[in-house]
Amino acid sequence: MKQSGSTWSDRFESSLNPAIAQFNASILFDIELLPYDIQGSIAHAQMLAKTGIISETEAETLVQGLQQILAEYQQGEFQPGVEEEDVHFAVEHRLTEIVGDVGKKLHTARSRNDQVGTDIRLYLREKISHIRNHLRDYQQALLELAENNLETLIPGYTHLQRAQPISLAHHLLAYWEMAQRDWERLGDVAKRTNISPLGCGALAGTTFPIDRNYTAQELGFERIYRNSLDGVSDRDFAIEFLNAASLIMVHLSRFSEEIILWASQEFNFVTLKDSCATGSSIMPQKKNPDIPELIRGKTGRVCGSLQGMLMLMKGLPLAYNKDLQEDKEGLFDAVKTTGACLEAMTILLTEGLEFRKQRLSEAVTEDFSNATDVADYLVTKGVPFREAYNLVGKVVRTCLEKSKLLKDLTLEEWQQIHPAFEQDIYHAITPKQVVSARNSEGGTGFEQVKIAIENAKLLMNQ
Ligand code: ARG
Repeated sequence: MKQSGSTWSDRFESSLNPAIAQFNASILFDIELLPYDIQGSIAHAQMLAKTGIISETEAETLVQGLQQILAEYQQGEFQPGVEEEDVHFAVEHRLTEIVGDVGKKLHTARSRNDQVGTDIRLYLREKISHIRNHLRDYQQALLELAENNLETLIPGYTHLQRAQPISLAHHLLAYWEMAQRDWERLGDVAKRTNISPLGCGALAGTTFPIDRNYTAQELGFERIYRNSLDGVSDRDFAIEFLNAASLIMVHLSRFSEEIILWASQEFNFVTLKDSCATGSSIMPQKKNPDIPELIRGKTGRVCGSLQGMLMLMKGLPLAYNKDLQEDKEGLFDAVKTTGACLEAMTILLTEGLEFRKQRLSEAVTEDFSNATDVADYLVTKGVPFREAYNLVGKVVRTCLEKSKLLKDLTLEEWQQIHPAFEQDIYHAITPKQVVSARNSEGGTGFEQVKIAIENAKLLMNQ
């Protein structure tokens, strides 16, 4: 292994202070970029041969050496320490150990600045595609649950006060829609991640006759950065990703909060199955919603990484600055956290929740959440809405005085309030009818929810 400091040119006389070497190094976390670093270096070596900068034989030797390093890494045999500073040096040094002096030619016409930019984009491009797959699984779980609960009714809330009953499927599909936007958003981020900075050099390009479009094409990039300064210092794509990941987490966190509430004794809408809940070490009666709580909690660090990256960038002059080495840990963490949370939530939806249907059906019958429907009823009988609204206020007050629900009023009591009330008022205020009647586009009416389910399937199959 090389000694700290010996990486540098002969301009340096002595090696780094060991504490500073440790402080300066990124190898302990950027080793995660190794497969992408190898991928980028292979394309670079091939381009160097194609443009005549090195010979074909040399390129072949380099490629074989790089492939060997990848295999060593995958078998857990390549574990460079901080003396290597970062993954790029670690690979170059190992390569030279394996193939000899020709290894020293790999870095021709390249800088670690365009190299690390390439690595991180290749990494993120792949991770975005994994997260989009996780989103699809999550959406599928939501959709299945929705299909099985079209006619399960649940109180709908505003201000966390019971407002109007809704179909449980409609509620679940609201989360499906958020996930659909998240999926689309990540597709958009992927476009701006998939641009090649390779060949931008340290900042200004290179004196060698390189072919940037060749490496871009080899690596599956859609195009190249038009400006070398921008290419080596842009991290917008990472910020956009972190923004998209934060939104995914915020959506999961809102849903988690609801599941936690639903599982409380106060709501009692769901039972958590044993495979997805934990107990207390001291209170034997307890069953805790750890999964949604952890998801809600982990949302903080993903949003934190977004803030971290924004603050990292805000004062950077062009072009590369070492500050940019700080772009990785938060990003890697956000990638892992978001994927893990999507997976956990999908499992929770698939096997961890049991909706307590009896309790839900009581919940939609035991309050005044059908009051709007009484007003709407009067409107269909020709009473202007505002007048009907005031009358229903009176009805609710009467009910409260008599400790009755709307459904318990006699026809006589109804007609005392307004002569337009007839026998059919009882049907109009049953929870099922209340839901069914909201058949406006995008509403909770069963016909609308069925259409929404079909649309969701179509969008997922596109
Ligand atoms: N480890 C560095 C990073 O992650 C690689 C680039 C170093 N470039 C430099 N000019 N020191 O940013």
